[in-house]
Formats: sequence, structure tokens, C-alpha cells
Amino acid sequence: MAIALFLTGKDETQWQQAIHRLDPNIPVYTPKDAFSDDQITFAVLWRHPQGLLQRFKNLRAVCSAGAGLDHIRTDPDVSPGVVVYRIVPDSLIRAMVEYATYAVLFFYRRFDKYAELRQQQKWLQLPQNSPADIRIGVMGAGKIGEAIIRHLRQMGFVVTGWAKHRRMISDVVIEAGLQALPQFLSQQDILLMVLPAERELRDLLNEERIKYLKKGIRLINLGRGDVIRESDLLMAIASGQIEAAFLDVFATEPLSGSHPFYNHPRIHITPHIAALTDVDDAAAEIAKYYRQSHQ
Ligand SMILES: NC(=O)c1ccc[n+]([C@@H]2O[C@H](COP(=O)([O-])OP(=O)(O)OC[C@H]3O[C@@H](n4cnc5c(N)ncnc54)[C@H](OP(=O)(O)O)[C@@H]3O)[C@@H](O)[C@H]2O)c1
Repeated sequence: MAIALFLTGKDETQWQQAIHRLDPNIPVYTPKDAFSDDQITFAVLWRHPQGLLQRFKNLRAVCSAGAGLDHIRTDPDVSPGVVVYRIVPDSLIRAMVEYATYAVLFFYRRFDKYAELRQQQKWLQLPQNSPADIRIGVMGAGKIGEAIIRHLRQMGFVVTGWAKHRRMISDVVIEAGLQALPQFLSQQDILLMVLPAERELRDLLNEERIKYLKKGIRLINLGRGDVIRESDLLMAIASGQIEAAFLDVFATEPLSGSHPFYNHPRIHITPHIAALTDVDDAAAEIAKYYRQSHQ
């Protein structure tokens, strides 16, 4: 019984050391270590190569090294008997709430406009709103979306959610289903997306649905990039239907150097940094799930 770490783009040794600091009795291997594939019962994965899991005949559980499960959901070698975990520590949720709040305040307090005015060497004071004047639609109301909804509501914004299942989160209505989308989209001043990568959500925000948006809406996406059809977003910004966008995630990452988003004055981008996983917090969750799956 042992853990194997396959974390593309991350320092596996750092993760191994963090798990060992918590519990030196858990055997943990990185691809650099010598181990027998038959020992591995728990695999921690981040963008692992397809086919990798065929090596591990005794696998009981797999764990995503982050909140996203796309790389695990699309792997046909994760058999139905294998338990799937993901890591969403409180520190990651806090960082996502911080990012969402910053992006909302950026648009709500018109910092995008003031940056433009500064470029034009113009001194102009724009009217100031209150949060109660601003309707924010949050798409995705899972672990992260719910925390964002609660925080924005507490700040006084008028918040509605959209997810798979209709419900209430405190006094916030969570709408559900494609049939609810036209009305939901038409009500918002700011649309904030924190949806996962799912086949049925790909290109959800496309030319057809952009037509439902209030003209001049501001868009924020910190979930997964493929929910927006990027060519349609560029057209919508050019026409003024969407005034500006604040994006942390993209259909293809890393964004190629020639991507039009880099130099677009109305598209504010960050390189998928809304929340980086804290290794010690992640190690605590991995150790907990390892023990759970070996009881
Ligand atoms: N930018 C970053 O640095 C960063 C960091 C961490 C995570 N993320 C991304 O954030 C995403 C959300 O994280 P989370 O922990 O909140 O995920 P989660 O708990 O799995 O929640 C997913 C949400 O999406 C909704 N949803 C799923 N499929 C849907 C569908 N077909 N139609 C409508 N709604 C659907 C779910 O609806 P129900 O609630 O009704 O089931 C739920 O509200 C992750 O998947 C990850 O990709 C990004």
C-alpha cells in the first residue's frame, strides 16, 4: 500500500516531503523513486499522461492535486471501483474568494475606466454606485462558487446563482438548467463564472447566449476556460455587448504568445493564479484521504 505522485508542472519532491512531515509511516513515491507498480494503491494526479494508470493494478483511489477534476474525468483508465478525491483546502477557497472580490471591485469601482482615462491623460470623476445597485450572476455554486456567493452577498451586492440543481444559498436563489439561462443572463451587470470543465458546459457562453446579456455587462471567469467560446467573446467586446472581461482561465493553457487577449485593452488576464494549492494544506488532505481509502 503506497501513494504515487504524478504532478505535471509541480515539484513532486516538495509534496512527498510535506506528506512525510505529517506522517512518516505513509510510503510516498515520486516518478524519480524506485518502486513496484503493484505497491501503488493511491495516486495523486495533476495533468498526468493518458495510459499511466494502466500500470497500477491495485489502485483503490485517485486524488486530484487541485480542485479541478478534468484530467481525471477524461481518463478512461479510472475504473468505476476507484474512489475519486480532489483537494479543496480552505486556503484555496479563501484565495478564490479574494480573486473574485478583486475582479468585482475592479469593475464595480470602475478602475478599468480610470486606467483608460489615465492613458488619455483625462481627469474625470465617474458616478459612484452602491453595491445594492449592482446585480451579479455567479455561474457555479459548488464549494468555491458558494463561498463567493456568500461573500458578495455580505458585501451588499444583489446576487443570483446558476448551477445544475435549483436551490437557495441563504437568501440567494440558485437557478438551474439551460432553460433558466436566458432570463438569468439578461438580469446581470456583472457575470462571474466559476464552473468546472464538463463536456456539456463547453462553449456555454457563445454568440447565441451572449445575445441574452445586458449590453455593457462585465465578465469574470476563474473556473475553467472552455466554458467561453473565445472568438465569440472577442466579437462581443468589439460590438460593446460585453464591455470588458477579467479572465484567469483559458480554453488552451498556457495562452500562446500570439493570443489576441494579451494586448486587448478591455481584456484583463492573469495566468491561472486565482488560487494556487498550498502544499502543506494539500498534504494534510492527501494523508486524510489515503487513510480513509485504506480503512
Ligand atoms: N483559477 C483557479 O486558480 C482555480 C482554482 C481552483 C479551482 N478552479 C476551478 O473552479 C471550478 C469550481 O470549483 P468548485 O470546487 O466550486 O467545484 P464544485 O464544487 O464541483 O462545483 C461545481 C459547480 O458547477 C455546477 N455544475 C456542474 N456541472 C454543471 C452543469 N452541467 N450545468 C450547470 N452547473 C453545473 C455545479 O452545480 P450543482 O452545485 O448544482 O451540483 C456546482 O455548483 C473547479 O472545477 C476548477 O476548475 C480554478
